[in-house]
Amino acid sequence: MPRPISVLITAGATREYLDPVRFLSNASSGLMGYLIAETAKNNKTAVTLISGPGNLPPPPGVKIVRVVSALEMFKKAVGLFPKTDIFIAAAAVSDFRPAKISKRKIRKSRGPAVLKLLPNPDILHEFGMRAGKSGSGPSVLAGFALESGNILKNAILKLRRKNLDLIAANPPGSISSGNTSGFIIERDGTVHRIKKMNKKRFARILWGMIKETYAKKTDPRRIKARGETA
Ligand code: CTP
Repeated sequence: MPRPISVLITAGATREYLDPVRFLSNASSGLMGYLIAETAKNNKTAVTLISGPGNLPPPPGVKIVRVVSALEMFKKAVGLFPKTDIFIAAAAVSDFRPAKISKRKIRKSRGPAVLKLLPNPDILHEFGMRAGKSGSGPSVLAGFALESGNILKNAILKLRRKNLDLIAANPPGSISSGNTSGFIIERDGTVHRIKKMNKKRFARILWGMIKETYAKKTDPRRIKARGETA
């Protein structure tokens, strides 16, 4: 029997602690990533979900890897790069982390007036660059773009910059909501407008397009026609 397609999904918000009790984060619940994981699993794939902290129960049959910070999520994801056929970045990763983590609770009397931050690595960008260079790793890369303005233009720029096959662009209202809307854009520039709908339906539509893209890219006849080896 051929091995099942392996799907790696990141989901939820990361937490960037500045002391034992305080952290930088965002309002993402992780719902979108969990629903995609559930949909992909029902499609007989082997799904690994790398999740930030949250209360959602993992979908049955999905392997869950729990992380807290962006650095942890980055390390776990990169470790799984060679074994992944499809990568879907649905996590709302914190772009920055505090330069210093205090071992003790920071007292307000001695608290810093300015918080020094360092940039976190971009997991999806790293996957895009590695896949482009080595030709190994995932055959399909999909990501999200949360945009508060010029949604389509900014999402297309992200799709190109991160070397993606598909990008789902949503407005900020989607975060921690049961519904979403926006666009799904393919590598060739095809734009699908998505009217407001619940995230379960959106997850099914997106997964359908991802599966279709995977089938096209890994079809042995097409690979032969492009002069590549499977
Ligand atoms: N992403 C990631 N690692 C990061 C930041 C983002 O994997 N450190 C992924 C997200 O999971 C999402 C996509 O990149 O699929 C776009 O995330 P978004 O927050 O919209 O954009 P950024 O790349 O962070 O850029 P900006 O904040 O400037 O909009």
